[in-house]
Amino acid sequence: MGLLTGFPDGFEVGVSTAAYQIEGAIAEDGRGPSVWDTFSHTPGRIKNGDTGDVACDHYHRWPEDVALMADLGVDAYRFSIAWPRVQPTGSGALNRPGLDFYDRLVDALLERGIAALPTLFHWDLPQALEDQGGWLSRSTAERFAEYAGHVADRLGDRVHRWITLNEPVVHMADGYAFGGGAPGQALMFGALPVAHHQLLGHGLAVRALRERGATQVMITNNCSPVQPASDDEADVAAATLYDNFHNRLFNDPILLGAYPEFLESLLGDVIRDGDLAIISTPVDALGINYYNPMRIAASDSDLPFEQRPIEGVPTTAFGWPVVPDGLRDLLVGLRETYGSALPPIYITENGCSTDDGIGDSFRVDYLGGHLGALRQAIEAGVDVRGYYIWSLMDNFEWAEGYHQRFGLVHVDFETLERTPRDSYRWLQTALQERKS
Ligand code: FCB
Repeated sequence: MGLLTGFPDGFEVGVSTAAYQIEGAIAEDGRGPSVWDTFSHTPGRIKNGDTGDVACDHYHRWPEDVALMADLGVDAYRFSIAWPRVQPTGSGALNRPGLDFYDRLVDALLERGIAALPTLFHWDLPQALEDQGGWLSRSTAERFAEYAGHVADRLGDRVHRWITLNEPVVHMADGYAFGGGAPGQALMFGALPVAHHQLLGHGLAVRALRERGATQVMITNNCSPVQPASDDEADVAAATLYDNFHNRLFNDPILLGAYPEFLESLLGDVIRDGDLAIISTPVDALGINYYNPMRIAASDSDLPFEQRPIEGVPTTAFGWPVVPDGLRDLLVGLRETYGSALPPIYITENGCSTDDGIGDSFRVDYLGGHLGALRQAIEAGVDVRGYYIWSLMDNFEWAEGYHQRFGLVHVDFETLERTPRDSYRWLQTALQERKS
């Protein structure tokens, strides 16, 4: 069977990127600083002291990147819009050159027949908002919805599909609970308001986008099937707890209009009357980023759970276990949990890091395996409409800097030269075969 046979008509194959990871040009044309600029310039935070100052220089080289996508033959491109480029301090005045950049990008994509799927927030909060409390502060949710409206005012005549937030769980955990990502706070359970305020921002933004004619609005959640490390009662309970924090905290309020009970009591008066109605404003689809399952054991440390390695499977250059079936299990599990409340799903990220080099048979096997598992989920009745590979090209992989390479296209970070890898050629062939 061909790689892309057996998928429903109209099934979308795309590639994903995010602004801070590729754009560079951090101080150009009026862009304001983001939390990631501050964080990456703080000594000791990023491997090798790397920053996103230049990244892939996509801000200048975007025509080449659009041409690469057109040659690849993808249906769609998921990119993110840098809030500090559009609204440098996160509120008030807009920065016209910043909006112009995304305007030109969207036009170029549409001219090449590539659908545009922008994400409005992929972790690069304007530093000025962080200085006022960031996502710990309720007002950031309101600012986010205003910003979403401004972007839709400019692009909404051509863009009808939007993703509000990328992986609010990872932003809460890395950014505010453990501090491995920007803004680098380590508040442990004190980070929980960040979950609620992101969700509130999402709900308010859904409304703002709809008012401006959006036809498809979704959020992207990072989800993992969770398995207990043993049959031991304590491990099973720890796995359930982890599942609640990682998966249900961000899916339940949106799809069911309620938090899991114990999380609601932990959030206490952070939740105000009417918030859950806003958060559960219906979405048209759910974006899922899948990388690997989690194996969880009970723990006596600061947290009641801890991650255990998944044995006997290959691992990526990052050390992440490769378990394609986890994608099928995750999707089938979501359908069992949410039933008719589960909207159509797009896999908005899936991919792996490999060692530097052009021959990446590891990535070909990885992607082939996951597409196979996805096909099985669809055969089992889960409504999946698209699959986006992370990533189009090597980029700034957050705290790992340029060390982890996820691209279908190799980037030489000295010369910024782009070179398609074997996986790019392999996908290109499959996309051509699908058309013929
Ligand atoms: C996801 C992020 C994305 C990228 C991949 C590897 O969690 O959304 O930006 O870093 O991981």
